[in-house]
Amino acid sequence: MKGMNYQKYAAYPVVDISTRTWPDRTITKAPVWCSVDLRDGNQALPIPMSVDEKIAMFKLLVSIGFKEIEIGFPSASATEFAFVRKLVDENLIPDDVTIQALTQAREHLIRRTFESIKGAKNAIVHLYNSTSRQQRDIVFRMGKEEIRSIAIAGTRLVRELKEASGNPGIRLEYSPESFTGTELEYALEVCHAVMEEWGASATNKVILNLPSTVELSTPNIYADRIEWFCRNLRDREAAIISVHAHNDRGTAVATAELAVMAGADRVEGALFGNGERCGNMDIVTIALNLLTQGVDPKLDFSDLPAIRDMYRRCTRMDIHARHPYAGELVYTAFSGSHQDAISKGMKAHTKSAEGIWNVPYLPIDPQDVGCTYEAIVRINSQSGKGGIAYVLDKEYGIQIPKWMQPDFGLAVQDVTDRTGEELSPEQIHDLFQKEYIGAKEPYLLRKCHISWDEEDPESNDEVATIINCSIQGPEGDLSFKARGNGPLDAFVRGMSSQTGLDFHVDEYVEHSIGHSSDAQAIAYIRISCADGRLSCGSGIDSNISLASIKAIVSALNRLR
Ligand code: KIV
Ligand code: ZN
Repeated sequence: MKGMNYQKYAAYPVVDISTRTWPDRTITKAPVWCSVDLRDGNQALPIPMSVDEKIAMFKLLVSIGFKEIEIGFPSASATEFAFVRKLVDENLIPDDVTIQALTQAREHLIRRTFESIKGAKNAIVHLYNSTSRQQRDIVFRMGKEEIRSIAIAGTRLVRELKEASGNPGIRLEYSPESFTGTELEYALEVCHAVMEEWGASATNKVILNLPSTVELSTPNIYADRIEWFCRNLRDREAAIISVHAHNDRGTAVATAELAVMAGADRVEGALFGNGERCGNMDIVTIALNLLTQGVDPKLDFSDLPAIRDMYRRCTRMDIHARHPYAGELVYTAFSGSHQDAISKGMKAHTKSAEGIWNVPYLPIDPQDVGCTYEAIVRINSQSGKGGIAYVLDKEYGIQIPKWMQPDFGLAVQDVTDRTGEELSPEQIHDLFQKEYIGAKEPYLLRKCHISWDEEDPESNDEVATIINCSIQGPEGDLSFKARGNGPLDAFVRGMSSQTGLDFHVDEYVEHSIGHSSDAQAIAYIRISCADGRLSCGSGIDSNISLASIKAIVSALNRLR
């Protein structure tokens, strides 16, 4: 092994906050959500959304329940300007929804942003400038003072333009962009300056958005930074602390969750984690994580398939099959032990009185996000007998008893091992039919008549069953009349004497399939021979006794 050049990288600094309290907190209510799908999400697309696609996405976000939606960077793009104007001019923004427009802290861009939002009832002007040491030194070649004064000048202009507009519905969000690369004390200093310039107070709050512009550390360090920031803020009541996490290390959701525990009030993110580079924090995951803890997420993802479709149409992005909650395979179990546990959990849940979800391997009820149970258990060579039984039961009402499941499991495995492919529920059903119901050799039941003899000398007070059968056998037709203490007993006696095979029925279960007048009975039987061989069979008929007799014939046909 050559080894990797890890010496090229330096560890991220920890925060000096030994008295941190966030690890002991839990999230008990949803934060204020802000969708950045139409901005960070859109600016990261190979083919940005058209105005029509943005309108469709905006409507989707409103229908999900977002009350704050960043609609783009209108001063930087003609399409985004036209889009915002359309939203305002065509009255497409519900009264309880606030649009948010991003702008750099530069005069002409701030002025243009105000033109774009003119007439909107509620709007957040989202002002940002980069504050990290890296950006100060390498990109802007400016000192701390100069960077701070950019933030102050930008804030002043937003305040003046708000006053001039006479619109009390305009609010300020300030982001020290590249916060994760900024010295904490310095980020605080810039934010204090912004608050002062804005005249922030408990009744005129400023949104301070502390972005994890690039995710540079483990989420606990980010949480420490948020707790430190909230504690050291001069007037905590005058600010709404917002977080905006990117996913460079793959932990954006954890970063946002721990930040909320550490004091953040507001969370920005995008559907399915779309956004720059590795994406923004996935707002679907974080919201459904809350749901699974019994907390109202205040966002409605009950029809995830429809949301997924619209997202794909608008962004042309795909969603990974393993994406939390949303991927096409996340409610599917192929492995036998998982299938078995899921099918038992589902049965127990149906019966449970409290209704609290408690199914192994499924942290959420797929139905709660618009997914059906059908795809939960899929059958391939990794699957087990429990999963196979689950599919037949769910799809066809065939409840193979436990003692018969290994028998059919072997038949399924034989096919999946040979083909290497997955079997659909229909293929599994066909195989069941072929193996048991359709097995016609060496014996085929042609006729069977059952009657009762009330005065049977052989039976002590019991009514004897008399059976008249005609069977096609390997060496020609067999016809026999036999009696017993029930149809099964009579048939076993008759077949044993005709074939010389010493066997008895050692397991038997039956139930009906289908409803109403066309309901049929299905019987499952295991026969045990004197020589130790066992064989399972199944039969279906509208008459329960005939179903059982057919099941014996089926078992005899499968005897090896
Ligand atoms: O990631 C980021 O820092 C941003 C800012 C503009 C908030 O998107
Ligand atoms: Zn961002």
